Amino acid sequence: MNCPIVEAGGGRAGVPALSIIVPTLNERGNIEPTVAALDRALRGIAWEVVFVDDDSHDGTAEAVMALAHGDPRVRLLRRLGRRGLSSACIDGVLATTTPAFVVMDADLQHDPDLIPHLLEALDTADLAIGSRYMAGGDGTALGARRGIASRAATMLSRLVLRQPVSDPMSGFFAMRRAQFDEVAPRLSGIGFKILLDILVSARPPLRVAELPFRFRPRHAGDSKLSAGIVAEYLLLLIEKLCAGIVPARYLLFSAVGGIGLLVHLAVLAVAVDWRLPFAVAQALSTWVAMTNNFFLNNYLTYADKRRRGWNIVTGLATFYLICSIGAIANVGIANAIYTQWSVWWQAGLAGALVGSVWNYAVSAIYTWRR
Ligand code: GDD
Ligand code: MN
Repeated sequence: MNCPIVEAGGGRAGVPALSIIVPTLNERGNIEPTVAALDRALRGIAWEVVFVDDDSHDGTAEAVMALAHGDPRVRLLRRLGRRGLSSACIDGVLATTTPAFVVMDADLQHDPDLIPHLLEALDTADLAIGSRYMAGGDGTALGARRGIASRAATMLSRLVLRQPVSDPMSGFFAMRRAQFDEVAPRLSGIGFKILLDILVSARPPLRVAELPFRFRPRHAGDSKLSAGIVAEYLLLLIEKLCAGIVPARYLLFSAVGGIGLLVHLAVLAVAVDWRLPFAVAQALSTWVAMTNNFFLNNYLTYADKRRRGWNIVTGLATFYLICSIGAIANVGIANAIYTQWSVWWQAGLAGALVGSVWNYAVSAIYTWRR
């Protein structure tokens, strides 16, 4: 085998030359088989594997620890109160020091036998991708429905990609660490698609190699793909389309605010119809709209930091407080501008903008801790 990048990394007694980053969420039954498969595939390479576990409740972290006690190549990075495949991979890479790394899933769908070939490709490329969608590759194990969705997602990705890549959705790739460090500060880290994030954030574009592989059926456990993950993918695309100028979260937060406005007007119409005093009707509809906005933001905008159980009650309380202050700022500023210029819509718009930016920025800190 000829892998200059790995040989450059040393391999002196106990010093790893290659890191394998494996994100895990409830994969207990796959830990041991994954390490065994790496052991077979990577003979002659000084490697380490970092499992990045988001506080799985099935004992995944314990399974990694048990292995690590007898095998110094096995490492664990445990994250609390955080979710997300992409951000897990980023944190995993940053916890290593080798000149090259590989990202792969913990369910044996990615064939470790491809890794030596990906490393060879790094001799002339910055990034080597295991592709299901090129001649010789195979993605049929995804199943018919997910296959179509995966193709559709791949087509959508052309909106943001600047180079032809057959499988930008792949979760299996090798990369040079120096190039990763260059893009890392610009990564969005949203959702599942770490590879797409890297490809789009790199400038100048990376030198990419693609190698075909057969995507296999899952070994144990279940896929973590959900409607929320699809929403996060769209969020990633929006953020990349806005070139990082406006955060996608703010766009979503504003869209939720727009829906809240409609809810507000609908409740107000009913309340006025019921002949409630106007001030009472307005207070009631404001309260309903704020509650609506909290829940929509909790499920959509902050799907990755969703508050659950009792935390919903405290989150709601901070959100009411923040939005009330936002409303006072909104009215104060609109009023000040109106007395100066007397153009009602400009004054109204300026007030609303200040209020929404305040609500977004402060709730990001106090309601959905950044
Ligand atoms: N730490 C962490 N946090 N790991 C996660 C999370 C999370 O929130 N969500 C999923 N994972 C881990 C899983 O435990 C698994 O090891 C890996 O990420 C992939 O998750 P799967 O649920 O198996 O995803 P998939 O098989 O449907 O899709 C994967 O393969 C596709 C084809 O290569 C993903 O890698 C896709 O991005 C990829 O397109
Ligand atoms: Mn999988």
